[in-house]
Amino acid sequence: MFLPQTVTGTLALSVFTAVLGSLTFGYNIGVINAPQKVEKKKRKYTETSKYVSRKLTQLEVPPPFCLIFLHEWLPRKAMLLNNLFAFIGGSMMGMSKLCRSFEMMILGRFIIGAYCGLAGSLTPMYVGEIAPTSLRGALGTLHQLGIVTGILIAQILGLESLLGSEDLWPVLLGLTVMPTVLQMGLLPFCPESPRFLYIIRSQEHLAKRGLRRLTGRDEVADMLAEMKEEKRRMDMEKKVSILELFRSPFYRQPIIISILLQLSQQLSGVNAIFYYSTNIFIKAGVQSPVYATIGVGVVNCAFTVVSLFLVERMGRRTLHMLGLAGMCICAVLMTMALALLESIPWMSYISMLAIFGFVAFFEIGPGPIPWFFVAELFSQGPRPAAMAVAGCSNWTANFIIAMCFQYIAEICGPYVFLIFATLLVFFLVYTFFRVPETRGKTFDQIAANFNQYSAGGMMDMDLNKNSTELEYLGDENMN
Ligand code: GLC
Repeated sequence: MFLPQTVTGTLALSVFTAVLGSLTFGYNIGVINAPQKVEKKKRKYTETSKYVSRKLTQLEVPPPFCLIFLHEWLPRKAMLLNNLFAFIGGSMMGMSKLCRSFEMMILGRFIIGAYCGLAGSLTPMYVGEIAPTSLRGALGTLHQLGIVTGILIAQILGLESLLGSEDLWPVLLGLTVMPTVLQMGLLPFCPESPRFLYIIRSQEHLAKRGLRRLTGRDEVADMLAEMKEEKRRMDMEKKVSILELFRSPFYRQPIIISILLQLSQQLSGVNAIFYYSTNIFIKAGVQSPVYATIGVGVVNCAFTVVSLFLVERMGRRTLHMLGLAGMCICAVLMTMALALLESIPWMSYISMLAIFGFVAFFEIGPGPIPWFFVAELFSQGPRPAAMAVAGCSNWTANFIIAMCFQYIAEICGPYVFLIFATLLVFFLVYTFFRVPETRGKTFDQIAANFNQYSAGGMMDMDLNKNSTELEYLGDENMN
């Protein structure tokens, strides 16, 4: 059986509740196409709607930095408060047409952007902290599954025959408050992160109670002992600021890995496909491009589920590399197909296949893994600062692609995906040489691995070798 007995009702409820944030996040990525389509019909608003969709990421860059200030906040409480952004933003967008105010729509969209920025860091952090070591990767993947499900729901509801019509698009935008309300209702039934309670707040009693609820076990001394060790190390260190992450030799390596993994996710070009897939399908001569785009959403969801089942078996490193390599091959295939389209008509099928393959490989590794991997690389103290830096890198890269892809595509024509193919090769080589495996290891073991590396100045290959040894020990401990 894939799921071991460690998944209690409380753990399932807590992860489900947290992942509702990812769903809202994904819904808001996918939803903007519909109003864009509707408004495009009215010339007057075309520029404004383009502005809204393009600039939406701009305000999502600073919010992850808020995490630094939320550092001392309990993760569950931070998620609860973040819901206010989604509620206010969603209501403003939903009411904008009624109030005849496009400004309300833009402001609402910006507020939702702030929500997405924070949810993108808070959800994987909370899930990573409450998950048992042996399931941390699988449960971490649920964040991405939430995002892709949200994108798909938005794509389907955004069809003109459903809510993507001139009259109904405000309802489509306003619907984002539904998962928010559900999350607000369920969060009070979820335990706070026991790691946070114990390691940061020194509230042993409350941490124990949370652990008992999450594991369904009465005896939690072994887990507490592991946290004790992490706390002992943390108490010896000074507070970790963002600057400290780059200055300290203990954190420099993991923070660089975190940033590069985020960049590998965004600079892989996946959002170029998501933002412009309909256009690409039209260019490729595909009939019903809108349905083909929904097909991309379905493939996206299906392969995230595949990754969910593989991540604890094959490990993060292998899946990430497999995903990057597959995407690279698909990008080259897509380029060839688009370049030959005029002379060989059936190349449109190949280009479509390449797009589906590109997205499928993305969800095998580069989609889900970077989100939860950062939370795994850091212990409790530096984790929020690291998540903030990673979140900002992710959104900045996302923003750059959203802003520039169209212009670069105009210059490069069908060869635009060769740029992504080159970047993918770079990230593949980087992952091979620098990214260690974290599967089956406790946070403390992972941190110790990096400390050892920075203290001894070992070669990276040794770091990976050590990881394999630790992984083996971890597996042995688990058996
Ligand atoms: C990841 C990315 C996001 C992208 C999505 C596509 O969550 O962070 O930018 O749109 O995957 O599935």
